[in-house]
Amino acid sequence: MRFPTKYGHFSDDGSAYIVTTPDTPRPWANVLANPDYGMILSHTGGGYSWVFSSKISMLTRWNQDMVGDADGKLVYVSEPARKKNWTINWNPCADAGGDFCCTHGIGHSTLERTLDDVHARMTCFVPPGDPLEVWLVELTNLSRATRTLHLQSYLDWLCDQWPDAHREFHRTFLETAYTPKTRTICARKRKCDVPHEGQTSPWWPYTAFHAVSLAPTYACGDRAAFLGRNRTLRDPQGLAAPQDKNAFGRYGDACASLRVAVKLAPRATTTVVFVLGAARTGAQAASLVRRYGSVDAARAALAKTKKHWQVLLGSLSCATPDKRVDVMANHWLKYQAIAGRMFAKTGYYQNSGAFGFRDQLQDSQVWLPLAPERARNHLKLCCGVQHRDGSVAHWWFPDTNIKHRSNCSDDFLWLPLILTQYLKETADVALLDERVAFDDGGQGTVLDHALCAVERGLQRLSPRGLPLLGDCDWNDGLSSAGDQMRGESIWLAHFLYLVLNEMITLLRRLKRDGPRARKCERAAAALRTALNKYGWDGQWFWRATTDEGAVLGAHACRDGRIFLNAQTWTVIANSAPSARQQQAMRAARRLLYKPYGSLLLYPGYTVPDPRIGYLTQYASGLRENGGVYTHAAVWSVLAEALLHDAPRAFDRFAALCPIKPARQAERYACEPYVLPGNIDGPASPTPGRGGWTWYTGSAAWLFHVLNSWILGVRATYDGLIIDPCIPAAWPRYTVARLFRGARVRITVKNPRRVSRGVRSVTVDGRPAKMPLTFAPGTSPVVVVTM
Ligand code: GLC
Repeated sequence: MRFPTKYGHFSDDGSAYIVTTPDTPRPWANVLANPDYGMILSHTGGGYSWVFSSKISMLTRWNQDMVGDADGKLVYVSEPARKKNWTINWNPCADAGGDFCCTHGIGHSTLERTLDDVHARMTCFVPPGDPLEVWLVELTNLSRATRTLHLQSYLDWLCDQWPDAHREFHRTFLETAYTPKTRTICARKRKCDVPHEGQTSPWWPYTAFHAVSLAPTYACGDRAAFLGRNRTLRDPQGLAAPQDKNAFGRYGDACASLRVAVKLAPRATTTVVFVLGAARTGAQAASLVRRYGSVDAARAALAKTKKHWQVLLGSLSCATPDKRVDVMANHWLKYQAIAGRMFAKTGYYQNSGAFGFRDQLQDSQVWLPLAPERARNHLKLCCGVQHRDGSVAHWWFPDTNIKHRSNCSDDFLWLPLILTQYLKETADVALLDERVAFDDGGQGTVLDHALCAVERGLQRLSPRGLPLLGDCDWNDGLSSAGDQMRGESIWLAHFLYLVLNEMITLLRRLKRDGPRARKCERAAAALRTALNKYGWDGQWFWRATTDEGAVLGAHACRDGRIFLNAQTWTVIANSAPSARQQQAMRAARRLLYKPYGSLLLYPGYTVPDPRIGYLTQYASGLRENGGVYTHAAVWSVLAEALLHDAPRAFDRFAALCPIKPARQAERYACEPYVLPGNIDGPASPTPGRGGWTWYTGSAAWLFHVLNSWILGVRATYDGLIIDPCIPAAWPRYTVARLFRGARVRITVKNPRRVSRGVRSVTVDGRPAKMPLTFAPGTSPVVVVTM
C-alpha cells in the first residue's frame, strides 16, 4: 500500500489508485480516451462519453455537479425474487450501502460494490484504435443459494454539443432503434447545434450504439418508459417492466437500457460485456459490436489496451529514492497530459474539447521523450492554423470550421519555442523545410511559420519597446488591461526575449538567414534594455501596464502587488543581470511561496476592476486571482533549478505534488494522482484546497521539469546532458530513456551526497564527455558520478 490516506492508496507500483470510500471531498475521476473517443468516470460512477470531441459531440448527457455527481452511465443489479435493486455505480444508489471500491488505472477503471451477498465488478476502458468503450462486468454470487439476477444498463443520449439547454427541442431530432439479433440499440441525431466536419452541417454524422454480450430480456430507448413519470434513477420502473414495443423510434425522450438475466449457482461468477460507441455508419457500428461485444474479445481488448499504454508511456522511466517522483513521473503526469489534455481535452471541471494553440503546444512537450513524431505532427497542425501575418487560431476544433481568433499576445510565440525544443530532442532539422499551408492561403516551410511568429512578436511593441498585452497574454484573466493596444506585458517581454534567443541560436547553428538572425539579436538586446529599464520595481519586476498607463504588480499596488510569472521568467529567459534575477526571486519566495505551492500573484484582488480583467472578478485567492495556478507554479520549480537551488526546486515540486501526507488529504480534497489546475490561496477560507483537476497545462510541464531539470537528463542540440539538481540525501537514481533511437540507461551515483555537479561520466564503461550522443539502435549504459 503506497501513500495511504483515509480515502485510499496507490497500488505498489504506483500505476493505479485505489479509492476505498465513496466519501471523498470531490469526485475523483479518471479519463479513458484515444484521440477520437473517450469517457470520463468518477469513483462513484459519474461521467460521460464522447466521440470526436468532448465538447461538441458528447454521446451521453451529464451535469457538471461536483457535489451530487449522480449523472453517469449506470449498470443496475436487481433481484426480482427479493425486489431489490442497486447500481454498480455508487450513485445514484448510495443509500443502498454495501462495500465500495474504485480502482483508477492507466487506461482503465474498475468500480466494485458488494451488497446482498453479490459482488459486482465493472472494468471500463477505451481501446486504443476504435471509437468505443467497453464495460466488462463480473457478477459473483457470494451466498449459498442459487440466485437469479438482472444486470441492466442505462444511459441518456445527447449526441450533440454540451450543454444542451433545450431538451424538448433537441429530442425531436433523435431517433432510437433496437436490433434484437445483434443485441444493439442505436441512436441517430438529425440536427445538432454546431458546425461540424468542415461545414455547417445539420447532421450529427454518427450512429451511436449500445450493445450487450447476452440476449437481452428487455430493451428500452425511451426515458419516459424506463424511468416512469415522477420516478428517479434510484428506482426506475424499467427495472421490473416487461418489454414495451413502443419504446423506440422518434417520438420518445431518447435513452438506452439493456437488461440481461443471469442465474448464478452458489459462489459462481458470470461475466457480461456492454459496449458503447459511435461509428460513421450502421454497418460499422455492427462490426464494432461484433469485434468487442463478447467476453473473450473484451478481455483481449483490455489486455491490449493496458499494453498499449505501457508502451506509449514506457520510453522514459526513473527510479529514485523519493517514490512520489517515481509515481508521478513514471505514470500519472504523462498519462494526465496525454489522455486528459492531448486526447480527451477534458476533465470533470472543464470540458474544452478543442485544441488551444498555446495550451496543447505546451502539452505536446510530453511527447518529446516518448513519441517525438507525435510532437512533430502537432507542430505541423499548429502551423496550419497560422495566418501569414503570424497570428493564430487561439483555439479550434480540428476537422471543423470552428476556430476562435483573438488578439492574444503570446499564443503564436509558443510555436517557435516548442519547435526548438523538438529540434533539441530529435535533431530532425528536415522538419524545418517541410511545407505547411497558412490558414489564409499560401504556403511556407515550418521555419517560415516560426519566423512569421517571431516577426509578429516584434511588430507588437509599445513606443518604449515593450510587448503589447493585447486581449491577454498567458494570463487569460488579464482580459481588459491591454485591449486598446497600449498596455504592456513585462512577462511577455521575458518570454519574447527567450523566444528570440532560441531562434537566434537555431539560425546561427543552421547558418541560415544571417540578416534575420542579426535582426533578432538587435531586437533581443533592445528588449532586454527596455524591460530592465521600464519593468523593474526596485525589488521585483512589474507584471504589466494597462491601457491607461497604470502599473500592475508594483509595491505601490494595494492588490496584485507582485506576480509570480514576472519573476520566474526573468530566470527562465535569462533576461536580466544575475543579481537582479536573484533579487526578483527573493521577493517571489518571500511573498508568493506557500507550503502548498507558489501563488500566481499577491494579494488577490478584492474589487472587480474592468481596467484589468476578469481575474479581478474571481473571489480573492481563487485561480488566477491569487491562488496557486499550478501551470505557473511549475515554472517556479524550473526557475529554482535554473538558479541551481536544488533544495528550493525540490521543495516547490513537493508543494505541488498531489500525493499529500495523510493529514492533508481532506483539506486538499482532490485526486492524489493528477495535478489540479489551481489550489486556493491565503485569502480563501481553505488555503491549500485543490480544484480543477485533470484539465491543466501543469502536468506536461511538471513532467518536463522533473525529468530535464531535477533529474537533469535533458536533450540539447549537441546531445544528451545529465545535470542533476536533486536532494543531497539521494544516494543514487536511475533513468531509462529513448534518445534519438538509442535506449539509454543512466545510473547517477551520489557518493558525496551533493545536490549538484558531475565529476565523471562513463558510457559502456569508458570515460565520456557530455553532451552524449549514441548510435541509433544501441542500448548504451551511462554511469554518472556526482
Ligand atoms: C487556462 C488557459 C491557458 C492560460 C491559463 C492562464 O489554463 O487554458 O491558455 O494560459 O488559463 O490564464
